Amino acid sequence: MFLLLLPLLAMAHGLDEHLYKPKLSAASPTLGGLTTSSTFTLEQPRCVFTNLQDDIVIWLVVAVPKAVPNFQNSVMPGSPERAFQKFPTSALAYMTLNTTLLNYPCHKPPREITVLRVGSETSCAKDNTRPTCNGPLPGPGPYRVKFLALNDSNPVAETAWSDPITLKTARQLSSIPTTGSGHSAGMIALTSILSILFAILLAGLVAVLVFCG
Ligand SMILES: *[C@@H]1O[C@H](CO)[C@@H](O)[C@H](O)[C@H]1NC(C)=O
Ligand SMILES: *[C@@H]1O[C@H](CO)[C@@H](O)[C@H](O)[C@H]1NC(C)=O
Repeated sequence: MFLLLLPLLAMAHGLDEHLYKPKLSAASPTLGGLTTSSTFTLEQPRCVFTNLQDDIVIWLVVAVPKAVPNFQNSVMPGSPERAFQKFPTSALAYMTLNTTLLNYPCHKPPREITVLRVGSETSCAKDNTRPTCNGPLPGPGPYRVKFLALNDSNPVAETAWSDPITLKTARQLSSIPTTGSGHSAGMIALTSILSILFAILLAGLVAVLVFCG
């Protein structure tokens, strides 16, 4: 029994587990609404995987909370159990936004965008040949995410799971007051100006008719 467990222990030991927890990015004036009914925005995992080579590929795992306790890191991205198109029914998680560690450097130039928009790719959402699609989230969630580092197909490091992320529902979204809702000050001013112009025009027309008549 112990002999059977040894390789398992060795494997578990080979995986670097970082305490870093993926987090939603703070609101920024340039990016606007950070969470919509089908997307959310995460901070990039910069300076997290510092002891790996630059060519290690970092994946984002998006899972339903019940998939977290028994999550298998060894199931490869792109396999049916990790396909975006089958999420969250027959795949309880999917893997997307793969990029090499090189793209998450520690150095953060002040103006560079250092966030990840999850759910932004609509073109591949229904394309079964693109299982790693970063497609729109299928519902309000909640979802939990983590970053997983793969060396070819070997998991070599991971972060902790995020707290549950819940998206806006369509109802919440439409009840948000927007400035273009017909009663804004700008709209009222424009309507008044147009009415006055129209009245002047009408008066002019009447005057012309009176003089000609
Ligand atoms: C991400 O994964 C897809 C599918 O495995 C692959 O085609 C693509 O080249 C990868 N991109 C990067 C940057 O590793
Ligand atoms: C990645 O794999 C290569 C070749 O299999 C190996 O030499 C290297 O040490 C591995 N890197 C990590 C971080 O495990």
